[in-house]
Amino acid sequence: MANWTDCLNFGISLCKQASEVVLTAFQQQKDVKLKSSPADLVTETDQRVEKILIAAIRNRYPEHRFIGEESVAAGERVELTDHPTWIIDPIDGTVNFVHRFPFVAISIAFAVNKQTEFGIVYSCVEDKLFSAQRGRGAFLNGAPLHASGQEDVSRCVVVTEIGAERDDLALSTLTSNIFRLLKLPVHGVRALGTAAVDMCQVAAGGADAYYHIGMHCWDIAAAAIIVKEAGGVVMDTDGSEFDMMSRRVIAASSDAVANRIAQVIQAFPCRRDDEDSDKCVCGAPSVNGV
Ligand code: IPD
Repeated sequence: MANWTDCLNFGISLCKQASEVVLTAFQQQKDVKLKSSPADLVTETDQRVEKILIAAIRNRYPEHRFIGEESVAAGERVELTDHPTWIIDPIDGTVNFVHRFPFVAISIAFAVNKQTEFGIVYSCVEDKLFSAQRGRGAFLNGAPLHASGQEDVSRCVVVTEIGAERDDLALSTLTSNIFRLLKLPVHGVRALGTAAVDMCQVAAGGADAYYHIGMHCWDIAAAAIIVKEAGGVVMDTDGSEFDMMSRRVIAASSDAVANRIAQVIQAFPCRRDDEDSDKCVCGAPSVNGV
C-alpha cells in the first residue's frame, strides 16, 4: 500500500519554493479584488501561487486531482472523490497578506479515498513548516509537535476567526459565541487571521482550542491532520464527526475541551463546500440546542 511519503516531500519542497513568491510580493503594493464579500479578498499572488503549485504537481503526478481555492473561485467545482486529491490554499490569510500582517500560510492537504493522508502548513513570514502524515505524528520544522492536553476549558486559550461573512446573523452569532466563551470563562480568545496557522497553534500547544464557522475545506484540511497527529481532537461544531466540507470545525487539546466548546457555541447556516452553488443554502440556523 502506498505511503505517499514522496508526495509529502514533494509538497514540502514546493511550499518552500512558492513561499519565496509570497514573501517577495508581501512587501509590494497589491492589486486587490473582492470575491464573496468586502472582506473576502484575492490578489494576483494568490492566483499565481496556486497556478505554480498545481502545474508542478500535475507535471509530476498527472493522474492526481485538485481542489484549489482560486480555481474554485474561478468556477471549478469542489469534488472530493476517491482519487488522490491535493487540496490547496495558496495564501491562507489573504487579508493579512494585503495588510502585511505577518501571518500568511501556504496550506496543502492530500487525500486518497476521501481520507487525508498528509497536511502541510507553511507559515511563510515566520518560516515555520508544520506537517503531518497519517499515523506518523506531527512536526514543526522537523521537531515533534504535541497538543497541550488541557482538559479544563476555563484554563484554555481559544483561537477563532471572524471570517469574511458580514451579514447580521453571521455577525451576531460570531460575537455571541465569543461572549459565551469569555463568560465560561476561558483564559483568552485570539485570532491570527489565518485558519491554518490558528489550528497549528493547537497542534503546537500554544493554544488549547480553535473553532470556526464559515471557513472552507482548503483553509483547514491540512491543519486538521496536523492537530490529530499532534494528539489533539477535531470535530464539527455540533459535536459530530469532522467533515472538511461542512464549513464548521472545532480543534482542541482534548475531547473534554472540544465537547465543552461544542455545547456553548452556535453555528450560522453555510452552504457546504461540495454543494452545487445553484442550490439553496443548507444547514440549520443553530445547533446544540443552546
Ligand atoms: C481565510 C482565513 C481567515 C478565515 C476565513 C478564510 P483565505 O482564508 O483563513 O482566517 O477567517 O474564513 O476564508 O481567504 O485568506 O485563504
